[in-house]
Amino acid sequence: MNKFVIEGGRRLTGDVSISGAKNSVIALLPATLLLDVPVIIENVPDISDVQICLTILRALGAEVERLKEDTYRIFCPKLLTHTVPEEQARKMRGSYYFLGALLGRCGKAKAAMPGGCYLGERPIDQHLLAFETLGAESLLIKGYDVKGDPFIDAVELRADELTGRNISLNVVSVGATMNAILAAVRANGITTIENCAREPHIVDLANFLNYMGAHISGAGTHKITIEGVQELRGNIAEGSEETRVYSVVPDQIEAGTYMVAAAATRGDVMIHGVIPHHLKEISDRLKECGVRVDVIENEDIVRVHADGSRRFRPNNIKTEPYPGFPTDMQPQMAVLLTLAEGQSNITEGIWEDRFKYVAELRKMGANIDLTRDGAILWGVAGLHGAEVRACDLRAGAAMVIAGLAAEGRTEITEIQHIERGYSHIVEKLRGIGAEIQRV
Ligand code: EPU
Repeated sequence: MNKFVIEGGRRLTGDVSISGAKNSVIALLPATLLLDVPVIIENVPDISDVQICLTILRALGAEVERLKEDTYRIFCPKLLTHTVPEEQARKMRGSYYFLGALLGRCGKAKAAMPGGCYLGERPIDQHLLAFETLGAESLLIKGYDVKGDPFIDAVELRADELTGRNISLNVVSVGATMNAILAAVRANGITTIENCAREPHIVDLANFLNYMGAHISGAGTHKITIEGVQELRGNIAEGSEETRVYSVVPDQIEAGTYMVAAAATRGDVMIHGVIPHHLKEISDRLKECGVRVDVIENEDIVRVHADGSRRFRPNNIKTEPYPGFPTDMQPQMAVLLTLAEGQSNITEGIWEDRFKYVAELRKMGANIDLTRDGAILWGVAGLHGAEVRACDLRAGAAMVIAGLAAEGRTEITEIQHIERGYSHIVEKLRGIGAEIQRV
């Protein structure tokens, strides 16, 4: 089993570039099934979730060509099947976007329940609500666990026709909003999605589809309107060789992770290729902790600089849907707060089980108590290296930051979780002075 070995206590300094957003690209790739023409997607992060999506696309019949390290040409003129390969579907959460995309393309879709990080229960009732509102029938295929209790094992969707309607989500859900867009973009008539999520990746999916000829407005607000279209060909004339090129939005969470890593190691790092207003909440919290965060040059660089002479100030954080503090930054920020002088509080407002990293962080000297929906962090002067595991993707990122900030050697196992979402993390960190190896 591979692991990361970190010799901690080095200040991170220098320049690092951010890749395209995982949680966007995993929807953009399925969305290519809805297009009538080939598309080139740039700024694709080199992460295992992308490779799984590409494997699924190929199995469904798409032509996938890697043009450059981060650039792919994708086209699916003929669909071979409407069933997502089971093994791939179970490997990642975002595989459920193939349900929306296949339903939108051919009125049929079947997939095993998605995998991904276990963060507590992850129901898909809001996705089904969206599909059913548009006129699909859903068949839930049951499995039975070792105790004989039933669970939903796979989903099959069918629709003779999808018709635009008003979808009112009961829960603000990123996944359900994305899937509703995918299913509605070629439906007949006008769909509205109320109480939708507003994350940058929702806007990116809408921008991508609009660029290819969709009529989606309101992405980034609480209400999205989609006027169904017959074709998605990006204004490219029949027979033309021209191909549209789209670049994935920068990863807000990857950027935030490097920001916290820079701060926690008392470093001075220029983080390139970001959209600073996506990072506002993270920047504000860091500033309140006493970290300097400046947006510089042509506004796509943030510089994070932490003075080593003072302890961080404590803070209280509550995770919320965008534009609130992102749950996907909660474990990383906890590492910084564990080094603050005094008591900090974290309330997790999205996932019921996103504190598995606490047991690992305690092995490194952190003093954290868990509460019903959060954690109380009693700041300590420093962390020490230990053998820890990456319980899930962001928990793993937190372990990397803790290892970088700690004195001594940290070994992190189960790094496959980290590699699902962080492109070239070892190379990027080494580039800013970290002593980290993948062994
Ligand atoms: N929810 C429902 N029913 C649904 C869908 C969601 O009750 O049908 C609940 C969830 O249980 C949760 C809340 O709604 O309490 C929000 O869930 P959401 O659907 O927004 O999450 P998701 O789409 O499953 C995505 C990201 C997560 C990120 C969340 C919140 C992907 C593949 N995953 O999950 O990313 O935490 O949005 O921003 O895009 C990560 O990258 O580490 C990660 C876990």
